Formats: sequence, C-alpha cells, structure tokens
Amino acid sequence: MPSETQTPLRAGIIELAVGEPDPALLPRDLIRAAAGRALADPGDALLSYGSREGPARLREAVARRAATTEGLRQGAGDLLVSAGNSQALELTLATLTTPGDVVLVEDPTYHLALGIVRDHPVEVVAVPLGDEGIEPDALEAVLAGLRKAGRRARLLYTIPTFDNPTGVSLAGPRRRRLLELATAHDVVVVEDDVYRELAYDGAAPPSLRATDTSAPVVRLGSFSKSLAPGLRLGWIDARADLRERLAGAGVLESGGCVAQFAAGVVGRVLESGDYDAHVALLRRTYTARRDALVRALREHLPAGCRFAVPAGGYFVWVTLPDDLSASELLPRAEALGVSFAPGARFSRHGADDGLRLSFTLYGEAALAEGARRLAAAIGAAAAHAG
Ligand SMILES: Cc1ncc(COP(=O)(O)O)c(C=O)c1O
Repeated sequence: MPSETQTPLRAGIIELAVGEPDPALLPRDLIRAAAGRALADPGDALLSYGSREGPARLREAVARRAATTEGLRQGAGDLLVSAGNSQALELTLATLTTPGDVVLVEDPTYHLALGIVRDHPVEVVAVPLGDEGIEPDALEAVLAGLRKAGRRARLLYTIPTFDNPTGVSLAGPRRRRLLELATAHDVVVVEDDVYRELAYDGAAPPSLRATDTSAPVVRLGSFSKSLAPGLRLGWIDARADLRERLAGAGVLESGGCVAQFAAGVVGRVLESGDYDAHVALLRRTYTARRDALVRALREHLPAGCRFAVPAGGYFVWVTLPDDLSASELLPRAEALGVSFAPGARFSRHGADDGLRLSFTLYGEAALAEGARRLAAAIGAAAAHAG
C-alpha cells in the first residue's frame, strides 16, 4: 500500500533525516473543536469560495500576533492567506519572475525549495551561508558581478531564522546589511519564516520584514510547524506593492482563497488562546529533545566533528572531520540503524562535509541512541579513511 505520509519510515532505523513533527504532537482535539465551532456558525463562510486574501478573522489574528511579538504595526489588509510556504513560494516565483531572471539562493539551503525554484525557467545563483547566516560580502560581490554583466537578480530566497538545514539565524547587523543591499540592487527578498514560532532560547530575532518595512521583502509564514502541516496553511506578509502583485495572480482570481477551510478553522484556534498554549507545549518538548540530542552528540561524536546548538527550529547541522563525505557515510550509518540528510542534498555545489539531523520526530531516548549510532558510524569511517 502506498504511504500516506510524505516520508515513509523504515523499521529498525532512527530516521534523523526526516524533518517532520511527531504525530503525537499534532493538535487533533484543538482542530476538531475549532472546526466544530466554525461549522456551527451559519455566518461563517468556511465552505464557500473565499476572498482572494482569505478570511479576515485569520489575517487579523496573525497581524495581532506580529504586533505583540515583533512590534509590527499591521492589520488584516497587509496579509494574504497562502496554502503554506511551498505554495506561497510557487506563487511568488510565478508572479514576480520572468523567464531568464536570476534567483539567488543560500548555499546550503532547503533542498525542496530549490525544487520549487527549478520548476521555473530562471537561473539559480548560490550565495554562501556562514556561521551567522548569509555572508553579506559574498552577496554584495554576486550582486556587483551581475551588475557589471548588465544583469540583476530578481529574487533572493533566504531562511534567516532557524535555518533549514543548518539551524543558524542571521545575525542582527547582517539583517540590516542584507536589506540595504536588496534595496540598493532592487532585489526582492523572499523571507521563509516557517520556524519562527519554534524558538527555544528566548524570542526569535525580528523578521527581515519587521526590521525595515520599506524594504522589498515578501515574508512567508506557515502553520505547518506550529500546528500541523496537513492543514496546508500559511500567510504572506509583503510590502504593499509586492503584495498587490501577488494578490493579482490568476489562481486567486479563479479559486479565491487557496486555503479557505483551513484558514477559517485556524482563525478560531488563534482567537481562542489554544494556539499560545500549543506553541508553548511544542517549545518545551522540542527544547528537551534538542538538548537530549546535543548532550549525546557532545558525549559520543569523535574529535574533529563540529556543530552549533540551534536556538530554534528542527535541525542540528554537524560538520564532519576532513576528508569524510556525508553521502558516503550514509549507508554505513543506515547499516548501524540511523539516517541523516547529507550536505550534498542542500548544496548547489554538492558540498558534502556536513549533515543534517532532525530532533522533532523522536523522543529523547531515541535521539540519544541515534547520536550514539551516528558517532559509531563516523568513528568507523574515519578509521577506514585514516
Ligand atoms: C525552510 C522551509 N520552508 C518551507 C517548508 C515547507 O513549508 P509548508 O509546509 O508551509 O509548505 C519547510 C518544511 O520543512 C521548510 O523547512
């Protein structure tokens, strides 16, 4: 029987490659109760075509949250409902690029976003990501090179907060510099903000969108990580001229709101206060899981491996000792009962000296055992190489 989930899990393997939530943490009761309230209200347009922007109830609630958490002064009119960040990125590319345009991406970056970009007839150019997020000097050099060649970049796709795959966040001063460069070179920054709610060491850094509301930013927000990916629900928060171009898309003209049912239900979840409680539960649970994985990695990883503790999100990125390739390590790790996502999967240049571990799907004991198996695989590979 075909699998009903995105990634089938294999028996006997602790699948640290899989960046998905623990099914036990999906808020079934909360969604059922909110859907019941929405369906019982005859004034609710849950089952109609929606407006192209989506239900005001949800957009108002999202705007209120951005006001309290980031000081963004917005209303429902500033936001568009999306069917999650994947769909919002697709819409942004379809609406704001033309064939032959240059689209900048970080290297490494979220591999499945690369797949969405590649569905469009654009040229993808990579900009390196460092320990503090995208390297502004490298970005400036790429932009200057394009300008010299009489070209420009149309979009930059970036994940500045709790990155996938590296877990790093763009440092504060770099956020400003990136926005200055984008403004000077007229590049639209597509800010993928999918992990914002999953902050484990204090508040998430303010978004690029909140850092300078006059900069050309399209921020993509999602409920996939804070509620459930099956809702297929997110929102777009963009500078007014960009938002108007996105809202003019034919797909919204034809179908109205792309996620009318889910948006109606989640609007009620946000209003009820249940959302805050659920996000608090996720933060507590995932903080403990991150800490369990980090503790075990510190204890077991052989010398020469490096990693930084992520302050939020789903992932720890481990850099391997010299000469070890993550892709070559993978079969050895799987034979010992653990998987990971090798660096080459996320890199335009096939950089393979790192690997991504997800700490959301499994409990603390399995994560610790996964780290132990991974360390054993790395130790064996190093001994074989040496
Ligand atoms: C960086 C990033 N963007 C987007 C997505 C997908 O978002 P959505 O479920 O809202 O389409 C993910 C999911 O793993 C992700 O890690």
